[in-house]
Amino acid sequence: MSSSGINNYDPKRFKVDSDQSKNWNEPIKSSGYDLHESTDALNVENVSKMYISPAGELTALKEISFSVKKGELVSIVGPSGSGKSTLLNIIGALDKPTSGNVLVDGIDIFALPGSEISDFRNRMIGFIFQSYNLINRTSIQKNIEIPGIISGMSKTERKWRSNKLLDILGISDKAHQKPSNLSGGQQQRVAIARSLMNYPEIILADEPTGNLDTKTGEEVFYLLKSLSKKFRRTIILVTHNPELSKETDRTIHIKDGKLEKNVAN
Ligand SMILES: Nc1ncnc2c1ncn2[C@@H]1O[C@H](COP(=O)(O)OP(=O)(O)OP(=O)(O)O)[C@@H](O)[C@H]1O
Ligand SMILES: [Mg+2]
Repeated sequence: MSSSGINNYDPKRFKVDSDQSKNWNEPIKSSGYDLHESTDALNVENVSKMYISPAGELTALKEISFSVKKGELVSIVGPSGSGKSTLLNIIGALDKPTSGNVLVDGIDIFALPGSEISDFRNRMIGFIFQSYNLINRTSIQKNIEIPGIISGMSKTERKWRSNKLLDILGISDKAHQKPSNLSGGQQQRVAIARSLMNYPEIILADEPTGNLDTKTGEEVFYLLKSLSKKFRRTIILVTHNPELSKETDRTIHIKDGKLEKNVAN
């Protein structure tokens, strides 16, 4: 699997022209990807991560391996400090493993030239964080468009897509507001819309409901779940909530940096 790596990477395949975008509701066509039903969205192969600090060496992840199919909604659970965020950051190429490989849509991300990794991340991965990470001085609509601005999407395309996402996420009336005027649940909807802007291969969500009250957290979770089913998006979600993790297709249990269980729900 690793051998398929870098040769598959063709930045042109990310191009979304306006004809494709008219098919927003048909994600396979609108993604601009050459998708194959048999290909996994993600392969994590023997990933280990060591941190070296003045306090000594710490093994945050130890030989983690698992795969995620396209369109799957997978949860990652485990005690605090078990390595969940470290794992998610490595899958999203925000951090590098000490050893092992991560393949997104068959592409070995850490075999890419360093200069291409951030572009790859912006186009292939959508991030949703516990603390929303929105830019406060700019409007909701602009916040959603940021990944499109970075990837060089045309202004017309950006507007078209961000309007569509505002509509899908039920926040069209907030388009011209600033993030600080919105509730936590609404801000997380903005972050979800932003994560979908470039039609990424994988959406990574690190405790997306962690800052929300139970009811709003459930609303955000079911919104993610419906996006995953309706638009067949691959979503990997870290949660401390066992009730919500049961509602995902599969749960990966991490303990002391090791994969303890990988169970279908
Ligand atoms: N940059 C770093 N330098 C050194 N150690 C780190 C670093 N980042 C994380 N760690 C350590 O790696 C281990 C795993 O941390 P991680 O943040 O992945 O845990 P987590 O499962 O996400 O925890 P939580 O549920 O509290 O968010 C912890 O022991 C942590 O202290
Ligand atoms: Mg964490």
